[in-house]
Order: sequence, then structure tokens, then C-alpha cells
Amino acid sequence: MSAVLELPRGGPKHFLDLKDFSGPALRSLLDAAATFKRHCPGGKKPLAGKTLALLFEKPSTRTRVSFEVAMRELGGDVIVLSQRDMQLGRGETIADTAQVLSRYVDAIMLRTDHAAKLQELAKHASVPIINGLTELSHPCQIMADIMTFEEHRGPVAGQTIAWVGDGNNVAASFIEAAARFKFTLRLACPAGYAPREDLVAWARAEGANITLTTDPAAAVTGAACVVTDTWLSMANSESEAATRAAAFAPYQVDTALMAHAAPGAVFMHCLPAHRGEEVSADVIDGPASIVFDEAENRLHVQKAILAWSLG
Ligand code: CP
Ligand code: NVA
Repeated sequence: MSAVLELPRGGPKHFLDLKDFSGPALRSLLDAAATFKRHCPGGKKPLAGKTLALLFEKPSTRTRVSFEVAMRELGGDVIVLSQRDMQLGRGETIADTAQVLSRYVDAIMLRTDHAAKLQELAKHASVPIINGLTELSHPCQIMADIMTFEEHRGPVAGQTIAWVGDGNNVAASFIEAAARFKFTLRLACPAGYAPREDLVAWARAEGANITLTTDPAAAVTGAACVVTDTWLSMANSESEAATRAAAFAPYQVDTALMAHAAPGAVFMHCLPAHRGEEVSADVIDGPASIVFDEAENRLHVQKAILAWSLG
């Protein structure tokens, strides 16, 4: 597997963004994730003797627990650190932190709302760096989302996924995934909340079929999957909550909106969700929802990423 996934730049095998990888490389990670899901390694401990540092500048339930369990089930060890535990929180540079941690641990995952810090960490670390969410992207999540979609609806290539709501970090990784996995992505975002133009332009130049609209029904019509996310991300200020709630209210994914999707369409959400805001309770708790499969698949996908990065 590692030969297929070797990055051209060499050096540590970072997992920073989906656009850094070829489609076949991402596909081999998903194949590995499916193998891990079918056969928990049991007695085999491929990451025995390895330690992963998990650095959180923002809260997490799924990312923290799934990485920790993944590492342990593969025989490795984990150190979980928040910003306030570290000298980083008192002004030690990322460059120094990267070099010091590289002497102690075998890989580092970072969750931050400053993507520049992730890049800086990757630049100075001599061990693999994994993106555990920034304000710009969430690649581990979207790998789990593609795996989950395919378990329910078959190969994603050529199918249509509709994103409804904020053109945020999770949407950005979907845009990168559309380019790499060759599915059609329709995004319905209110004016002022569209995804970054440069990213959409990049994806289209890579051959991705991406449509932007402000009309949720137009995006959802005939789609095999409807995805949404919180109206207020961790990188956004609480002071934006009321303005955002007003802008996003017409974008709630409810049964009326889901009725426009293809028969048997699925609903996805990276979680945490806010019932009655971005999604109605009857949709997220209803038969189309595959959100807990999505959450589970974070574990299997991250095993694949760790096995590749540390392999
Ligand atoms: N989806 C996701 O990344 O969840 P956490 O914020 O709980 O890690
Ligand atoms: N867009 C959300 C995703 C949380 C997993 C956020 O950044 O807060």
C-alpha cells in the first residue's frame, strides 16, 4: 500500500489535505479502511512501539476517541494534549514544538482553527502530521464519509452528493473529494457563505463537476446523498450566531427537502448536530440517516491513515 501512496515530495508521510493525494492513493486508503473494518487486527499489532500525539486547540469527541482507540487497537500508544497543557499556549513557537515532539513521538495529529499552524508543524516536524480539522478543511471526516456513502449506495464515482448550508471546512474537503473520487457535488449555500472561490476553481480545473447555487431544492433534486453541517463552526465567533441562524434557516434539511432527493437517498452529517437547526430531528433520526455509520467509520479510516503514515 505504501508504494501507491508515496507522496512525490518525500519526507514524512503527512495527511494534511485530500488534494495532496491522487484518487488511486485515496482509494487504497479506503480499501485498507474496509479491511480494518472487516478484520480487527486482533493479536496483530502493526503499530506496536509507536506513539501518536493528539494536539487539540479545539474540542472534540469523535476525532479524539476514534484516533485514540485506533492507535490502541493497532498496538500503539497515545498522548493527548490540549493547548493549555503545552508551552505552545504560552508562546513557544510551532517550529520548536514540532522539532521537540519529533524527538519523542512517531506522529502528531493537530486540531486547530489556524490552518497555517498545521502547515508550519508539517514544515518543521520530522514525523508525519495528520490534519484533525482546521478552519479550512477536515479530510479524515470526508474519507469516512465517502466510505460510508459507498457502503450504502455503491461506488461514489458518477453519483451526485448535495451539500446544503455553510460552505465551511467540511464542505471544502468534500470539494477536494469530488475532484479525487469523481462524483458530482452540488452545493447550496446562502449568499456570503459560499465555499472559497479558489478551491472551487482548483477542483474544476482538476475535472470536478461542481455546481454552486443558493437554492437547496435545486441542489438536492435527484441527489443520492444530502449532507449538512452546523451553522456555527468552532472557528466562528459566537457573536455571529444570530446572523447565521437567520441566513441558514431556509437551508434546514427536513423531510420536505429530502423528498427532492433520489429514492433511497441517504443523509449524512459529520456531527455534532443541532436538531431543529441545520437538520430536523425526523431526518437525522429517520431511516435515511447514516450518521452513526459515518462516526464509526472515522475509526476504520484513521487506522488506515495511521498504518500508512507510520508504516
Ligand atoms: N466530526 C468530528 O470531527 O467530530 P468531533 O468534533 O467530535 O471530533
Ligand atoms: N464545521 C464544524 C465541524 C465539526 C466537526 C466545525 O468546524 O466546528
